[in-house]
Amino acid sequence: MISIKSEREIELMREAGMMVSKTHQYLKDFIKPGITTKELDQLAEKYIRSMGGIPTCKGYEGFPASLCTSVNDEVVHGIPGNRKLKDGDIITIDMVIDYKGYQGDAAWTYAVGEISDEKKYLMEHTEKALYEGIKQVKPGNRIGDISNAVQEYAESHKLGVVKELVGHGIGKEMHEDPEVPNYGMKNTGPRLKEGMVICIEPMLNLGTADICILDDDWTIVTEDEMPAAHYEHTVLVTKDGYEILTPRLDEE
Ligand code: MF3
Ligand code: CO
Repeated sequence: MISIKSEREIELMREAGMMVSKTHQYLKDFIKPGITTKELDQLAEKYIRSMGGIPTCKGYEGFPASLCTSVNDEVVHGIPGNRKLKDGDIITIDMVIDYKGYQGDAAWTYAVGEISDEKKYLMEHTEKALYEGIKQVKPGNRIGDISNAVQEYAESHKLGVVKELVGHGIGKEMHEDPEVPNYGMKNTGPRLKEGMVICIEPMLNLGTADICILDDDWTIVTEDEMPAAHYEHTVLVTKDGYEILTPRLDEE
């Protein structure tokens, strides 16, 4: 069942989303060579709680931290630890914040120092693939329209589309119906209606689409060890289009 949010619920989700945006913006300055992913996690948790939010991931199915921190060939669900970021790394920070029982969820990939042109290409086009998906969000369109737009963009830029993990509805729960795959056919799947809220989140690889899971049972990595990027926004379906509830605060 896909829930339709009331005005009051949308207002709380806007606030949860803004907390996610602010936490990303806050962390940005700390993402430099030498910092550990655990230090980033601790900074984030303190900041989130100082705003009155709760880091949803902490304790979710046993996940031990507030952030997912995924470096280079790690696609998603990297666990913060003593790994120090190095010049030339890329890191995806994925976070979910609960505010008064409602969730906001966004992931963005960041450059650490100077990165290769290949990694720049991967980041630029993964973010653009996300926006191609978002552009399809309006009442009457279907989930498959989003999925297809992401896939077409990604594959025309020769990036591998991870198929095992998908976007999702969001609200009181971090994962609600519907699933939002990053591949599929136009004019298929559930129809979007005003008041639905979904997370669109392409996970794209510079090499092949194949992934595997590490022994920690969380971290997903690319099979060929090539880098991966991941961008995610929480998006509300409005009367005639969409509103991004997790806007980037470093862009106009
Ligand atoms: N944003 C991630 C998702 O949509 C959050 C995973 S949190 C974890 O799946 F707790 F499951 F790690
Ligand atoms: Co998500």
